[in-house]
Amino acid sequence: MSVIGLFPGSFDPIHNGHVDLVKRSRPLFGELVVAVLNNENKKPTFSLAERIEMLNELFADDPGIRVKSFSGLLVDFARQLGAGYIVRGLRTGTDLDYELPMTLMNRRLEPDVATLFLFPASEYQDLSSSLIKEVFRLGGQPEGLLPELVERRLIERFAGDR
Ligand code: PNS
Repeated sequence: MSVIGLFPGSFDPIHNGHVDLVKRSRPLFGELVVAVLNNENKKPTFSLAERIEMLNELFADDPGIRVKSFSGLLVDFARQLGAGYIVRGLRTGTDLDYELPMTLMNRRLEPDVATLFLFPASEYQDLSSSLIKEVFRLGGQPEGLLPELVERRLIERFAGDR
């Protein structure tokens, strides 16, 4: 039976640090599920449907990557999928402070699902979706942070704001 990995996140929007983590973790699993948190009540920049559409487009050439959405507890979703591993990225020590309590709680809730931490490439160590959005919203357009199709949509999204 193939091992299933689960890479969860808000992905509002996905950036190159996330893509790097998908590429790093993909060979470890028979199937990798990229799962978007359904957080519509938090007023995301991109709707759940838009985020899913972008992810599907990005990973269309790999049948071993499935894009899904989830709400509720992550470990319940992992159990439902039969995923043995949750993949998360660590950029800095601050990330670890944020991740550790979630990881330990997830393990308490579901001891059979392990969390695997990976470091993104160092050129992406400073990337966060919220920081990228702030820069683009204010008219900055640094290159190489976003997949092309995401960058296009983000520029479009903020075009009316200025
Ligand atoms: O990319 P993000 O926003 O850092 O992802 C956070 C995410 C989606 C992994 C986290 O918020 C999550 O797992 N939410 C689901 C709700 C849940 O299971 N909460 C309890 C965790 S201990």
